[in-house]
Amino acid sequence: MRRLFAVSAVAFLLSTAPALADHHMAEKPLFDRLGGQPAVNAVVDDFAGRVLADTRINAKFAKSDAARLVANLKSFICSATGGPCKYTGLSMKASHHNMGVTQGEFGALVEDLVATLDKFKVPEKEKGELLGALGPLGPDIVESPSTATGTALPANFKPAPPLHTAHKPMKKKKR
Ligand code: HEM
Repeated sequence: MRRLFAVSAVAFLLSTAPALADHHMAEKPLFDRLGGQPAVNAVVDDFAGRVLADTRINAKFAKSDAARLVANLKSFICSATGGPCKYTGLSMKASHHNMGVTQGEFGALVEDLVATLDKFKVPEKEKGELLGALGPLGPDIVESPSTATGTALPANFKPAPPLHTAHKPMKKKKR
């Protein structure tokens, strides 16, 4: 009996050893490997600057609140890379609805992101992981398979409200 226990104890240890080792060597979340929130913030700020200056896509941002977009992008990227944030913005489908984004424009935005990641010397592995996490969102964002860029923002596009509107004093009604 004692022998049986010893054998099964050894078998148990052998079977769990690889799992324990795996756990021990587990890689940190992408968020940490990118450099945490300060790095994500710097990446998003640079990226937003490129996007807003990129005539292939900047018409789409004409009606939007830049502060809301940047703040929500920071927490979105944090949460998509395994960071501690809770993203509270709209879903990708809802926020890009009626924007008329083409496949070509999606590609242009990805190019801007790659330029930012290269500027910050994000290693190939982490760059690939971030692009790999964002790429599958394409079908929720792209509304036209066209390779065209610089297409107009449809007149019926309704932007999300700016952040913190609840704290603004109400306008006085004209009597
Ligand atoms: C993987 C790619 C993309 C990601 C992860 C992404 C992410 C986001 C996020 C998190 C928001 C904020 C939503 C909110 O405030 O509730 C947003 C809004 C926005 N995105 Fe994207 N986006 C992507 C691609 C694109 C592309 C390709 C375009 C246009 C060419 C675009 C244009 C916009 C615009 C104009 C807004 C503001 C919408 C509004 O004012 O309501 N995005 N995006």
